[in-house]
Amino acid sequence: MWKNFQALQVLLFVVLFTFYMVALLGNSLIVIVTVTDRALCTPMYFFLRNLSFLEIGYTSVMIPKMLLNLLSETQTISFAGCGAQMCFFILFGITECCLLSVMAYDRYVAICHPLQYTLVMNQRVCIQMAAVSWSIGTLVAFGQTVSIFTLPFCGSNSISHFFCDILPVLRLATTDTRKNEAAVAIVTVVFIFIPFLLILLSYILILFTILRMPSAEGRHKAFSTCSSHLIVVSLFYGTVTFTYVRPKSVYSLGSDRLLSLLYTVVTPMFNPIVYSLRNKEVRSALRKSIVRQTSFLIRCGNSRVFSADD
Ligand SMILES: *[C@@H]1O[C@H](CO)[C@@H](O)[C@H](O)[C@H]1NC(C)=O
Repeated sequence: MWKNFQALQVLLFVVLFTFYMVALLGNSLIVIVTVTDRALCTPMYFFLRNLSFLEIGYTSVMIPKMLLNLLSETQTISFAGCGAQMCFFILFGITECCLLSVMAYDRYVAICHPLQYTLVMNQRVCIQMAAVSWSIGTLVAFGQTVSIFTLPFCGSNSISHFFCDILPVLRLATTDTRKNEAAVAIVTVVFIFIPFLLILLSYILILFTILRMPSAEGRHKAFSTCSSHLIVVSLFYGTVTFTYVRPKSVYSLGSDRLLSLLYTVVTPMFNPIVYSLRNKEVRSALRKSIVRQTSFLIRCGNSRVFSADD
């Protein structure tokens, strides 16, 4: 029994570690390529870079601590550590919802109002929209974390979860937490569900425009510019729904929690893969950047050989 448990832990460690490395590498490549390649100097890739940057942060807040816990026998987290983890988890989660809806708006303008696109989505507007997304995430995260961690807690507690998620922590407080639960519900509706409705609205309008296009080629081209975003949105909201919108009885099952963990980790890993598989521009930028890096390395290697000769 104990052996099986250890084997499961090792397996989980290897899987998580691999996912983490893939997510880090993929998202870093997207950040680098969208900075260095001129063809990717558009609002869409500006927001994608911001999303990749966010996902590096998100996975780095969650996974290393999980990996440590899998290796050690005492799986503890300090009170402050738990607060910090929750704060960043909320910050990145809410910012991701906002950024995804900003990206949907970007696709809506590009497809439904192509003539006004460069005017509407100018650099200043893009920076402001990203900044507003980050500000909303930060404000909500601080507000929620402060209001939860100023509640009274007694001694040391244990939660049966992989990280300091809001509801498991709230259950440990020694007072009435109904106000906090209401606040969590309001935040969920305003900052997770409303962005989802905005994304839905954008795609309904996009769909109508695409269907009205006269040529099949035009339809295909318009759809291909938003298909990556659509996949990423579906992955994100699909996993959020799968993880959180379930009856309480199901929530307490261990295997389900394990599944939800894998789902949470899978999303950040897939975004760069989806974008680089589906977008020709990203693929060619990646290829160029890899060629540049290798030729740079070869050149550096040669010059070292030469200088060693003299
Ligand atoms: C994301 O957007 C914010 C706000 O506009 C900006 O300050 C930040 O540099 C961006 N991050 C990346 C990696 O582009």
